[in-house]
Amino acid sequence: MRLCHRSRDEHVGAALNIQEILKCISAKDTRAAAMYHVLNDRHRRRVLGALDGKGLKTLTRLVMKARSRIFREAEEGAPRVAESIVRTPVYLIDENLIEENMRVLRYVKDRTGCRILHALKAYASFATFGVMTPYLDGVCASGANEARLGREEFGKEVHTFGAAYGEKDIRAVLRYSDCVIFNSFHQLDRYGAMARRLGRQVGLRVNPGHAEVETAMYNPCAPRSRLGVVHDEFERCFPAVAGQVGGLHFHAMCEQNSDVLQRVLESFERLYAPYLQGLKWVNFGGGHHITRDDYDLERLIGLINAFKRKYGVEVYLEPGEASVYHAGVLVSTVVDIVTNEMEIAILDTSAETHMPDVLLMPYRPHVIGSAEAGVKERTYRLAGPSCLAGDVVGDYSFDEPLERGARLVFTDMALYSIVKSTTFNGIGLPYIAVLRRDGTLDVVKRFGYRDYRNRQS
Ligand SMILES: Cc1ncc(COP(=O)(O)O)c(C=O)c1O
Repeated sequence: MRLCHRSRDEHVGAALNIQEILKCISAKDTRAAAMYHVLNDRHRRRVLGALDGKGLKTLTRLVMKARSRIFREAEEGAPRVAESIVRTPVYLIDENLIEENMRVLRYVKDRTGCRILHALKAYASFATFGVMTPYLDGVCASGANEARLGREEFGKEVHTFGAAYGEKDIRAVLRYSDCVIFNSFHQLDRYGAMARRLGRQVGLRVNPGHAEVETAMYNPCAPRSRLGVVHDEFERCFPAVAGQVGGLHFHAMCEQNSDVLQRVLESFERLYAPYLQGLKWVNFGGGHHITRDDYDLERLIGLINAFKRKYGVEVYLEPGEASVYHAGVLVSTVVDIVTNEMEIAILDTSAETHMPDVLLMPYRPHVIGSAEAGVKERTYRLAGPSCLAGDVVGDYSFDEPLERGARLVFTDMALYSIVKSTTFNGIGLPYIAVLRRDGTLDVVKRFGYRDYRNRQS
């Protein structure tokens, strides 16, 4: 009896909430986004069902605007949190911000019915998976270890793509994956039957024939790329094995907006549309910078919906960066300052070991409170403690002189930093700390000498 009453009250509450949200949307009030995100699946569907095209576009704008505001405020508060940390270097991950990104990803799912997997290669700190699992469909893995981590720590769908599986790898991959994606007809021929016998879905990665990634190192479709079967070979070999393949996968983007996806899709469709009949799914890969302020979410939603309508397949996305974009920082301390034509601050963190993409990509991370060299009063080169001459983050200027012992906060360091960090020169790995949703700071991992030693023979 009481339960009945409660559920009727909840109904009335939800109806009021929905009315309130619809009012906020028509008033272009950003509170609509927060109210939308806390509704359950059914009520979110009711909100979307009550909106026309213009209302949906407004809601999208409000979702992105609300997210931006929360991230701006978090960045303003980051130096205060950094000062409160006892030991550096430390990767400091903000659970609240990950959840904000998750909400945007789920909004794409709400609007399209697509499935979204988090790419573990970008971020695998399972201490925060608790805020990710309710929003996403699972993970994508690059091999046996990620697949196992995904199965054991994330606990939803696991899709694995590897450029080439060895005999031992494939057994572990199949044990922990729901779907295995092959990179060649040879691998499909060798392992496809085994995968199907175990009830696993089978996919094939193809080269979509178009990419706009400028750095060759990060362009999966660069000339002579080994990633994805090329169209000529696909045309020759696919018809004979079509019945064995459940879906096609492509990955051609890196930190890009949905206008690029549109052009990649045009090329993919031109090459592969005749073969999509009878497939269950198409995976659009990663590289979608969905949670970036200027990302055109409406275009992405339109593209997915049109594709699903046209081909009757499930669409998967597997972003990595977008899940934790701007949701973590690397806090470091100035250890010493030396002079050689300019002032050089030697930090307790290193580009080479703790933020390797800075050197590889290369890119310049933002340091809170800094500007380009020469813009503010005092310019310093920020450099690491390793022996590598080029272990330099960049030249930055500050309003005040940097003192030894000063804290520096490098932004956007959750993605591709923790997973890639090394102990080159015996440099210790940064601790990992999580700012929990209730505001507490939880140091979830402390690394020390043993971690360095365990990686040597
Ligand atoms: C096959 C595949 N899927 C997904 C991703 C994730 O991409 P991002 O983190 O740029 O979204 C990558 C990145 O390299 C990838 O190679």
